[in-house]
Amino acid sequence: MMLMARNETPAQKVRRHVALSAAVTALGGLLFGYDTGVVSGALLFLQKDFGGLSSFQEELVTSLLLVGAVVGALLAGRVADLIGRRLTVLITAAIFVVGVLLAAFTPTYPVLLAARIIIGLAVGSASMVVPLYIGEVVPPRVRGGLVSLNQLAITSGILVSYLIDYGLSGIGNWRLMFGLAAIPAVLLFTGMLFQKESPHWLIRQDRTDEARDVLKRVRDSEDIEDEIHEVQEVSRKQAGTRELLSPRIRPLLFVGVLLAVFQQITGINTVIYYAPSLLQGAGFGNSAALLANVVNGAVNVGMTIVAVWLLDRVGRRPLLLSGTAGMAVGMAITACSFLGGEHLHGALAIVAVIGLLVYTGSFAIGLGPVFWLLIAEIYPLRIRGAAMSVATMANWGANFVVTVSFLTLLNAIDGVGVFFLFGFLTLVALAYFWRKVPETKGRSLQEIEHDLTGSRA
Ligand code: BGC
Repeated sequence: MMLMARNETPAQKVRRHVALSAAVTALGGLLFGYDTGVVSGALLFLQKDFGGLSSFQEELVTSLLLVGAVVGALLAGRVADLIGRRLTVLITAAIFVVGVLLAAFTPTYPVLLAARIIIGLAVGSASMVVPLYIGEVVPPRVRGGLVSLNQLAITSGILVSYLIDYGLSGIGNWRLMFGLAAIPAVLLFTGMLFQKESPHWLIRQDRTDEARDVLKRVRDSEDIEDEIHEVQEVSRKQAGTRELLSPRIRPLLFVGVLLAVFQQITGINTVIYYAPSLLQGAGFGNSAALLANVVNGAVNVGMTIVAVWLLDRVGRRPLLLSGTAGMAVGMAITACSFLGGEHLHGALAIVAVIGLLVYTGSFAIGLGPVFWLLIAEIYPLRIRGAAMSVATMANWGANFVVTVSFLTLLNAIDGVGVFFLFGFLTLVALAYFWRKVPETKGRSLQEIEHDLTGSRA
């Protein structure tokens, strides 16, 4: 093994390194997806151990994770600046393991809620710090690909959780559903032990010699000294958080935050977290509801793969606009299936599921990946970290608001009302994207910055 590593050409060495970084990204995204998706199936069986949970109690199990995630995303950026990216990912993975095991072995409902908050801290932290770390450690030319890989990993994590929910539905073992997330968490921890600290963070700590050593391992070009200077230059010009609200940056911050909010208030996670409960309420058996969920998860992954392939070919805007239009159509179909009442029989049940599939597939080809990609592309380097963290928190915050109120809303205004409401909000989102969201395809981050703010970093 050592011998092989020593005989590697620089290009092979970099390729191996990028593959390892991709694996870390994938594990971070997988955990994000698994831990948020798994609750959809688990909800059907929690009743058994804790005796009749109310809609609100179900909403809490689902959404307290998101409160943890808002806090996790907020803290992770600061902690990662203080103690380094690598240590922050290690701590995040350890928190994942603790939270997941607590959920699996929880003796009572309140302890389960505490466990969900702890898992949320780790999910929020991972959603910030894994992309941050990877963005700094891999060569710039593969950065975009890894951002999209992250979304693919999230959707794959959701699908794996659905498959496990379905597989364990016969015995209704919700503890194992939660507990299996410990495996990728342990893998993330172990994998990270063998990774290097981010060279950019080392440079900012004035540990330039160590940074140079790391860069020699992870770059095959001669431009290492240039990169070191560039990072030193940018950290010298590092803007305060106040610059986020400057007249030049504010409109961009607004675009990121609105993309984040629209990604959530158009309803994606009411489908991702609650589809089985919804279908069960509409008359599906447990197994049929979970199977339909698996199909939905597979469409989500499949269309994300198509999106990753198309994003650099046709551009972000066409995918965002057509995907958002498709979401509105899907919501309208689902709403119509409920017109005859809350119980769906025969063909109407199929229409409802088709509506959900059209909706999820359209989200996966547009707003799903495009939100995460754009917030990594539209901000000037020196405020990128802060601006991404604001957009990420807005995303988790809006997710929380929708998730904590969905079942209550559904009881109050029924399926037709709720799904038409989401359809309407999707049309509002479409009009906003049409007018305000820029195309970034094929442009360097510097050019994008120039276009959007009229100047360079
Ligand atoms: C969203 C998540 C969502 C997932 C579904 C992501 O882009 O941020 O909230 O659960 O897509 O695939």
